[in-house]
Amino acid sequence: MILALGLSRRAQFSGPQPIGELMRLALARPDLISLAAGFVDQESLPVSETRRAIDTLLADPDRARLALQYGTNAGYLALRETVLARFLAADGQQASPPPSVEQVILTAGSNQLLHLLGEVLLDPGDLVLCAAPSYFVFLGMLQSLAARSVGVAIDEQGMIPAALEEELARRQKAGELGRVKAIYLTSYFDNPSTVTLSLERRAQIIEIANRWSRESKIYVIDDAAYRELRYAGDDLPSLRSFDRAGDTVVVAETFSKSFSPGIRVGWGILPPALVAPISSLKANIDFGSPHLNQRLMAAVLEQGLFEPHVAELRANYRAKLAAMLRAMDDFLAGIPGVCWHTPQGGLYVWLQLPEGMDAGPAGTLMHHALAEGVLYVPGEYCYPAEGEPLRVDRIRLSFGVESAQNIRRGIEALARAIRHAG
Ligand SMILES: Cc1ncc(COP(=O)(O)O)c(C=O)c1O
Repeated sequence: MILALGLSRRAQFSGPQPIGELMRLALARPDLISLAAGFVDQESLPVSETRRAIDTLLADPDRARLALQYGTNAGYLALRETVLARFLAADGQQASPPPSVEQVILTAGSNQLLHLLGEVLLDPGDLVLCAAPSYFVFLGMLQSLAARSVGVAIDEQGMIPAALEEELARRQKAGELGRVKAIYLTSYFDNPSTVTLSLERRAQIIEIANRWSRESKIYVIDDAAYRELRYAGDDLPSLRSFDRAGDTVVVAETFSKSFSPGIRVGWGILPPALVAPISSLKANIDFGSPHLNQRLMAAVLEQGLFEPHVAELRANYRAKLAAMLRAMDDFLAGIPGVCWHTPQGGLYVWLQLPEGMDAGPAGTLMHHALAEGVLYVPGEYCYPAEGEPLRVDRIRLSFGVESAQNIRRGIEALARAIRHAG
């Protein structure tokens, strides 16, 4: 079929994103309360901040023309310098050796960097060890490259180092160690599990990656998309600060969650060995992500518009998370087998349902939830293809989009659905 259409073999690898079906449902049924959407809160998007930054950017015609011209492949230097300085400040200057600005790249969202990494690291059949569960768009990207995602068990402190070692040992026994190219982690408030990798485990995971880099280098991809969205506790130093040689961790960050996904500026810090391959690939794709957006984000930071906005955002999401947790205490806590981990940040709550309850897209819970007018993300979308087995009795709930009032109504409806499905 694909061949008859003249499409490439690569096109066959890429399945549709499962979330597409949920988005269609949400659009077709505007009455549904969506606890599924991973979008940021519409009301708190930074309209006045963006207008102010654009006004300054365009006020001077010469400066405006520069911003409206093509930029450079690696991205606007001033913004690269700023994100690097902010990153080092957040880590308490712990990175040793500190990365240089040549290792910083700006991308169209962090997803673009994740994709570029996939392209330069993975041949078909290569393996990436991922937390089980993991960000489903990343898993889909691996599938589109015919690479294999392998799930590693997590607990409340994130990926379990012993489970990671066991998986590596298994791959070695199977003669596949040389095909393990990376470990992928969302180290702050993971999407969807919401757990943050503990300080101790950060050091352990880097040590394990280095020790097992015997047949091929094993990179650690630290997807820190939610680092700025912390509502309780103190920030933790990034995985990069435990990377003593500075040759193992790739940092992938973004302004999508902390400022605006419409501007879609992401950034990364690469180990020296990946700078040239990633740069060449990017140059062959777009020779630089949208320049105006990079200048815009630089102006936002320069004018001191970013920090106050993030502070407001945190207050807003903190209140919405509290509303969701209160509703869960009121409506879900009494249902046997239902439990959750209290997140310290991010946009989600990961819910464990009664053992074996089918929460999949065609399962009993989805049927009852839709009848009750509420939508969630089936947890099964978030499991890597191999390794730690998929769970049908987990769901991801988002408090990002709906109002506190709707969140409460949505959780009440979900509780009814779970009781009917049980
Ligand atoms: C874990 C994670 N990483 C990366 C992204 C991508 O963000 P963007 O490409 O907009 O920077 C998201 C977005 O939802 C995410 O949840």
